Amino acid sequence: MEECEKGKGRDSIIQTARFLVDYVAKHFADEEKPQISSKYPGYTAHKAFHENYKKSLAQTVKEIENDGPTIASLGKLNAAVATIVSHIRREDKNLATHVKKVNG
Ligand SMILES: [Fe+2]
Repeated sequence: MEECEKGKGRDSIIQTARFLVDYVAKHFADEEKPQISSKYPGYTAHKAFHENYKKSLAQTVKEIENDGPTIASLGKLNAAVATIVSHIRREDKNLATHVKKVNG
């Protein structure tokens, strides 16, 4: 929003959105490996969340790239950030607890 006021909104938002896409791809891939190796019971649901999240984020980024940042697309991007933060806090913590238990 700050960048928007300075007239730099479009580029900054596209950069932020692309950063989020890369971050999410790496974070999800890194975290799916121990889920598989530790036979995490929540793997199927967790993996489904990851795939849906990536799809929905890609859609939002495409929207921003095609139409420029709009109130609607910025709202979606903000919601995507909030969702990943709460996912990491809740779901990924459960996974860490499981992996620690399995590995002793
Ligand atoms: Fe996750």
